[in-house]
Amino acid sequence: MEKNNTSLKFNHIYFSYQDDAQTLKDVSFEVEKGEYVCLIGHNGSGKSTIARLMIGLLSPKKGDIEIFGEKLSEDNVVSLRKKVGIVFQNPDNQFIGATVRDDIAFGLENECVEEERMEVLVDEYAKKVGMYEFLDKEPSSLSGGQKQRVAIAGTLVRNPSILILDEATSMLDPKGKREIIDLIHKTKQENPDLTIISITHDIEEAYSASKVIVISSGEIIASGQPKDVFTSQEKLEELELDLPFFLKLKKELSNRGIEINDVSSIEELKRQLC
Ligand SMILES: Nc1ncnc2c1ncn2[C@@H]1O[C@H](COP(=O)(O)OP(=O)(O)OP(=O)(O)O)[C@@H](O)[C@H]1O
Ligand SMILES: [Mg+2]
Repeated sequence: MEKNNTSLKFNHIYFSYQDDAQTLKDVSFEVEKGEYVCLIGHNGSGKSTIARLMIGLLSPKKGDIEIFGEKLSEDNVVSLRKKVGIVFQNPDNQFIGATVRDDIAFGLENECVEEERMEVLVDEYAKKVGMYEFLDKEPSSLSGGQKQRVAIAGTLVRNPSILILDEATSMLDPKGKREIIDLIHKTKQENPDLTIISITHDIEEAYSASKVIVISSGEIIASGQPKDVFTSQEKLEELELDLPFFLKLKKELSNRGIEINDVSSIEELKRQLC
């Protein structure tokens, strides 16, 4: 029998919050096991709606969603959700515990992990995200970026098969963002089968993904490997995406008469300049 390598599939999904406004129109895509997919698009294009559909918080009006080959339904949503970890765009929506420790432990308690093992894991993941000193604090006393760190720890500690990050590092400073993205890349290296779906406005992160999906007004307008989707500066402008730093620099150099061949990273640009 052929091995099914698909971890998540959207089949012709239509969704609207209100009858008169179509939020998602005929959205279809497939994510293979172990892929790192970035979902990008302007504000209000429907990215978080897609994330909520993925974990069954919303149900499609038309079409169906498959997780590891199983159609998502009311009957299996609870069991399928165990395989999926999500970090929401607004970290306040993620907190339930009285302390940071309780919050990171919450998912583990649900999965009946024994007390001693749970303590070790909570400490380990709090350290990984740089929040160990805050374990006894109330989540409400934390800054937005600190809340995002805790939410990421609480999701990674459950060791999900599919990790959905909805702008999960948006409130972190550049150094913090780098640290968390490095942690996620490291987690992925340790577990190559982990599927990551990252919703981001960070075009540079999208360049490092194995696949990008570009959403505009509830429709997929481009998808594929970053090098095929982001073929040129003109293409990015056409997709209404921000230019990454190295392309802004290339454009500026060109304005000053220094022409650079096509590049897909700052390192390549540096090599051409040397
Ligand atoms: N709970 C809701 N009720 C009604 N309309 C909603 C609701 N949530 C989102 N919408 C609308 O659905 C559309 C898509 O919203 P969504 O949050 O999915 O966008 P997004 O791509 O995640 O945007 P952003 O980049 O700002 O996070 C928007 O027009 C938004 O106003
Ligand atoms: Mg959103």
